[in-house]
Amino acid sequence: MDIPKHIAIIMDGNGRWARKRNLPRLSGHREGVKRVEEIIRSANALGVAVLTLYAFSTENWARPATEIKGLFGLLKIFLRKKIKEFKKNNLRLRVIGDVTELPEDVVKEINSAVDITAGNTGMILNVALNYGGRQEIVNAVNKIIGTGIKDVKEETFKKYIYTAGLPDPELIIRTSGENRISNFLLWQSAYSEFYTTDILWPDFKKHDFLNAISEYQKRVKRFGGL
Ligand code: FPP
Repeated sequence: MDIPKHIAIIMDGNGRWARKRNLPRLSGHREGVKRVEEIIRSANALGVAVLTLYAFSTENWARPATEIKGLFGLLKIFLRKKIKEFKKNNLRLRVIGDVTELPEDVVKEINSAVDITAGNTGMILNVALNYGGRQEIVNAVNKIIGTGIKDVKEETFKKYIYTAGLPDPELIIRTSGENRISNFLLWQSAYSEFYTTDILWPDFKKHDFLNAISEYQKRVKRFGGL
């Protein structure tokens, strides 16, 4: 069957999941990390080449400082805990976004995990952190201006965005019933299939992920049959 080479996910609904249970928002994020672990394992087992997760957008800085701190704390624990499993499963960590603006201790943890897994040849876990699609495009434009290149082709441009060298996502999943792209992979999503579900991210289990892929397969097959 046609398994997308690159799947990208907008993990949304952690706050609503927590509110429904009268829990603090961070409990929703904590449960969300469990789904992150589950979906990584599932994608890897299916042979997905790149899994991109939208973990922190440029807009997320507008959240209360305690929530931001809590999110980065969860990310640090996640990276420290998972590094052994990443090594064992030949998984490579990559980040997209302006990581330099993140707290120093978080940057250190990220760089260490990226370095340790740099030689791995299996699935690429691509985490979007302080990422914004417009920021990415403007950043690429500035880098290109710096090179002095005058005639920019699409093929040139692609080399200056964060995902340089990676295939574009064939499938983008968004949870929690929202149907917006929210500044995610604006350049790369030109031809992506978009799959949305009402399920909140902390409830999005392996079988929901498989459902999204099988819906994608049905759509691709329909086009292929023409
Ligand atoms: C959206 O839910 C979720 C986020 C902004 C953060 C996603 C982060 C994680 C799942 C944990 C850390 C990530 C990794 C890779 C370990 P929301 O808070 O916007 O939910 P709401 O719309 O219901 O308020």
